[in-house]
Amino acid sequence: MTVSPRRYHITTFGCQMNKADSERMAGILEALNFEATEDPNLADLVLYNTCTIRDNAEQKVYSYLGRQAKRKQNDPNLILAVAGCVAQQEGESLLRRVPELDLVMGPQHANRLGDLLEQVFSGSQVVATEPVHIMEDITKPRRDSAVSAWVNVIYGCNERCTYCVVPNVRGVEQSRTPEAIRAEMEELGRQGYKEVTLLGQNIDAYGRDLPGSTPEGRHLHTLTDLLYFVHDVPGIERIRFATSHPRYFTERLIRACQELPKVCEHFHIPFQSGDNEILKAMARGYTHEKYRRIIDKIRHYMPDAAISADAIVGFPGETEEQFQNTLKLTADIGFDILNTAAYSPRPGTPAADWENQLSDEVKQDRLQRLNHLVSLKAAERSQRYANRVEEVLVEEQNPKDPTQVMGRTRGNRLTFFEGNLQELKGKTVSVEISEVRPFSLTGRVLALV
Ligand code: SAH
Ligand code: SF4
Ligand code: F3S
Repeated sequence: MTVSPRRYHITTFGCQMNKADSERMAGILEALNFEATEDPNLADLVLYNTCTIRDNAEQKVYSYLGRQAKRKQNDPNLILAVAGCVAQQEGESLLRRVPELDLVMGPQHANRLGDLLEQVFSGSQVVATEPVHIMEDITKPRRDSAVSAWVNVIYGCNERCTYCVVPNVRGVEQSRTPEAIRAEMEELGRQGYKEVTLLGQNIDAYGRDLPGSTPEGRHLHTLTDLLYFVHDVPGIERIRFATSHPRYFTERLIRACQELPKVCEHFHIPFQSGDNEILKAMARGYTHEKYRRIIDKIRHYMPDAAISADAIVGFPGETEEQFQNTLKLTADIGFDILNTAAYSPRPGTPAADWENQLSDEVKQDRLQRLNHLVSLKAAERSQRYANRVEEVLVEEQNPKDPTQVMGRTRGNRLTFFEGNLQELKGKTVSVEISEVRPFSLTGRVLALV
């Protein structure tokens, strides 16, 4: 008799950290002989890797979970697991809300999925949310892309932005050693990966928690030092990093990015608000003037650098005038991409308890006005690509047009052109841009680089 293989399904919500954690958890499941399925209803094990950054992200999780909990009532062998930030935030109370759950595990426990499942298989309902030292990654992630890979460099966040749940759910900063990061990148290079994105919630904090300092008292391990340390990894042609915090972004880092040819001219530096009073209430630790100086410095060294950011509208107490300062900063900088959100009060964060909350109407109105400006500015910024030749690293077929492939420019603009994926996947090609849209480009291939 042949036993059909057990199937697993993972849905990932939220940010790149969660995506990277999901890839590692998928790797663990495949080592346990599970096979992937896109359809949760066909899976023997369903895992939701969740996000709680805003209330709507959290509610989405409950609606997905409700459907699988129902399915489990008819199929008691189904294993139902919740990982990630909602799991960490809610812990045991999730079991009360969804008693069908077998496993609730916080983000720090992602690499331990195998051990935790063993306890589930032996009949326990398991909750793993205690803070732990994150185990070095000994698994083989099952990565979504064969060209571009995430590499975690620092977990957690020690900032205390007054709106944000991340420090509560991701714990304190834990940097991986430069040697471990380099070893992972070398393995990626051997496997044929071409691009690596180094990940951290506050990547500029990299190395603060590692021992060692220079004679001048500077930390021995900074993000800048890390870039120099991993830059010559064979096979890896492009290096990116995210997310940057304006408070810690240094000129030394900017110079390194200009000097090191593999580091792409693309920076994701959230500003959150263009108003100094609001920035103070958010406890961000910088002013809009300082933010502008950083962008000026980047553009001084790399005039064509792509700049992306995040912003929040409708923070408690934000006046129309203060919101105008966010519009002004957005207009002045001209972002390539700006992710915008209406402020959402999160349990366990200081700002959620303040009395000066704004109405949903005001928040939605401001969000729409900001988004309108963002698309105008992105369209304007895109114009600079028209008729230019860009280096594009080919990743996939264009899902909407099989005669085309797609990849990204060094500035991270999605670019489509006619070509054969088998031939071009993982190759960097020169593409002449013929059509520009606010967030993507179309061109024709000139040559392999
Ligand atoms: N570490 C990054 C971002 C982390 S969360 C940083 O420091 O900027 C990603 C984005 O979600 C944030 O940049 C912020 O714009 C948004 N965000 C976080 N908490 C939020 C909240 N309570 N309401 C609305 N947006 C929020
Ligand atoms: Fe949240 Fe602030 Fe940390 Fe970013 S830096 S993850 S916004 S607390
Ligand atoms: Fe969401 Fe957790 Fe990332 S709350 S944004 S998945 S760190």
